[in-house]
Amino acid sequence: MMKFDATHGLLKEEISAYQETVTKLHRAIREKSGAGNDYMGWVSWPVDYDKEEFARIKEVANKVKDKAEVLVVCGIGGSYLGARAAIEMVQGLYANNPTEVIFVGNTFSSTYTAQVLEHIKDKSVVLNVISKSGTTTETALAFRMLKNFMEEKYGKEEAKERIIATTDKEKGTLKALALKEGYETFVIPNNIGGRYSVLTPVGLVPLAIMGIDIDAMMQGFLDAYHELDTDDLNKNAAYQYAVARRILQNQGYNVEFFVTYEPQLQMLAEWFKQLMGESEGKEGKGILPDSACFSTDLHSLGQFVQEGNKVLFETVLCVEKPTLDLSVPNDPENGDNMNYLTGKSMDWVNKMAFEGTLQAHEEVGNVHNLLISIPDMKEHSFGYLCYYFFIATAMTCYMLDINPFNQPGVEVYKKNMFKLLGKPE
Ligand code: PA5
Repeated sequence: MMKFDATHGLLKEEISAYQETVTKLHRAIREKSGAGNDYMGWVSWPVDYDKEEFARIKEVANKVKDKAEVLVVCGIGGSYLGARAAIEMVQGLYANNPTEVIFVGNTFSSTYTAQVLEHIKDKSVVLNVISKSGTTTETALAFRMLKNFMEEKYGKEEAKERIIATTDKEKGTLKALALKEGYETFVIPNNIGGRYSVLTPVGLVPLAIMGIDIDAMMQGFLDAYHELDTDDLNKNAAYQYAVARRILQNQGYNVEFFVTYEPQLQMLAEWFKQLMGESEGKEGKGILPDSACFSTDLHSLGQFVQEGNKVLFETVLCVEKPTLDLSVPNDPENGDNMNYLTGKSMDWVNKMAFEGTLQAHEEVGNVHNLLISIPDMKEHSFGYLCYYFFIATAMTCYMLDINPFNQPGVEVYKKNMFKLLGKPE
């Protein structure tokens, strides 16, 4: 399903040399006995997710879809990036969808928030607010503005039919508010952290409203759960990747460039950056995840990758089959000298750009490349790659003796900000 290829990785150690370590850590992951195990609900989520709630997500989505000219999704970090990554990957950037999706609550930018309010003022709006803690300031502040907007536009009664809250089962400010206002609510499991939560109601609610086939997505998630349930490094493509990362860091590479050749995968790269960065970047350890979209960024960062400071390796996400393709038309005048491509598919050109770049980076630039391939950009592939990256992240972090499921560092800025904002203790 997903393939991993380290033949361009220029690895100085054999991946198989790590078999013993991987066997031990695989058990810690599957038995949920490793560090941070109170947040390992995602490990068995493909089989034990709440089926009744899943059915209710589809029902609610069907009910609100018709009135959602715009779906506004209010959340940040793990309560935001996964849904956006999935929607863009599956539907593309200019989808022919009667519902437009807009993300708020992920910034304090007044200009951005004001422009969204202006943009949606005459449109039919459904609002999904997502926060596990229910207290995240970016989300809570935007939600206050949006709630106010909805109540002014529709009146309190109709607004409550258009607001959906996804939050903790019992606790938190958002839960209390949703109960008081009578919003439809969905539960974020308390044993799954934000960046591992895209296939819980966190992502599933907006995805279903956007018309995405969440059954196919969960099937991909489940298929990966089964296929990757092996400690055998010859068979487990996620663990091969996890080990290759560690080998490359041992060789001195502290930056991972996550490369795609599809603009609709740029948010997936953002999601990946959060997953790896927040899971691994602690105790002075970890690889800095960065990203680029080629060939676009070959005209900017490409120079650095080719000839700059040798700090990075590349992980390229290759898509075997594009969602859409085009054939290059003939031009009898050939004024642009492009007739040598007549009749060729545009995706073939993209793939040749990839092959040429791989060779240039590896053979001339001495840049190490890890390749991960997915068959397409559909729902099943998204679900599969979620489990792939979750389990790869857990393995690569455990190999570093890091707890992949906490994020103590993100509290530091909040403390300072709250003091400056005069937030009561
Ligand atoms: O991965 C994480 O835990 C974070 O990115 C959170 O998801 C993010 O801070 C949002 O938190 P909350 O859902 O509590 O509003």
